[in-house]
This record gives sequence, C-alpha cells and structure tokens, in this order.
Amino acid sequence: MIIAIASDHGGFKLKEEIRKYLATRDDIKCVDLGTSSEESVDYPVFGKACGEAVASGKADRGIVICGTGIGISIAANKVKGIRCGLCTSVEMAELTRKHNNANMLALGGRTTETPLALEITKTWLDTEFEGGRHKRRTDMLDAMP
Ligand code: RB5
Repeated sequence: MIIAIASDHGGFKLKEEIRKYLATRDDIKCVDLGTSSEESVDYPVFGKACGEAVASGKADRGIVICGTGIGISIAANKVKGIRCGLCTSVEMAELTRKHNNANMLALGGRTTETPLALEITKTWLDTEFEGGRHKRRTDMLDAMP
C-alpha cells in the first residue's frame, strides 16, 4: 500500500514519528510530500497536495497532520474523492475506516500525544471498510460536487 503523508509546521514532528513507524512495515511504501522543517508554512497547500495524490491514484491512502488536524483535514476534504477523518482516539480510527471508508487520516500534532497517534495510525491502516449500508452513504458523499 502506498501512503502519502504531509504536514505543516505544527504537524512536522509527529509526521516524522509516523514516517519512522511506516518505514518498519514491509507492506507500506511512504511518499513524503513535506513539509521538511518546523518553519512556518500554510496547511492548505499540504492538505491539498496529499488529497490530490490520493484522488489521482498516485497513493492508495493519505495521512495529514497540522497543529490540531482540523485545518489540514478541511483542505484535504475539498479534493473530490477524498474522505478524510480527523481522529483523536483509536475508536474513531476504527470507525472512520469501518463506516466512512476514510481514504485519509488527519492527526493533530499539538493535540494528540505521539504514542496515541501511533496507535490511531496502526488501527486506521489495518481496519477494513464494512461496506453494506455504509457503502450507500459513502456513495452519497462521493456523488457530492
Ligand atoms: C498553525 O499555527 C496552525 O494553525 C495549524 O497547524 C492548524 O492547527 C490549523 O488547523
């Protein structure tokens, strides 16, 4: 599975931790779209780039991180075909895969401690979509202009 990852300065440190984890997995190739330091940048640029990588099929799924995860998830969700879920618990990670078939995960680098963020990431990567009644609803999302 190809995972695109991106952050702004507020998510940079956590992005590096997630990248280290992804590198331990043989089933994952990670494509880092930046940013590359804690110098101030604009989260919409990185959310859009990561969303476009997923929507175009260059990556299978994406992970985006800013200070809270809010701004960068809003940016990603503006790209057609993206279902980006901001998760602050393992339960949310599980449900955003099972019910929303989220093809992107958003995390808050300033609001979620690294060990929890790693558990959220693992769960989100390894949980499958349940389909069924949830497919009807995600189809409705995907039909929105
Ligand atoms: C940047 O200071 C901060 O606003 C950003 O990382 C994010 O939290 C926005 O939602």
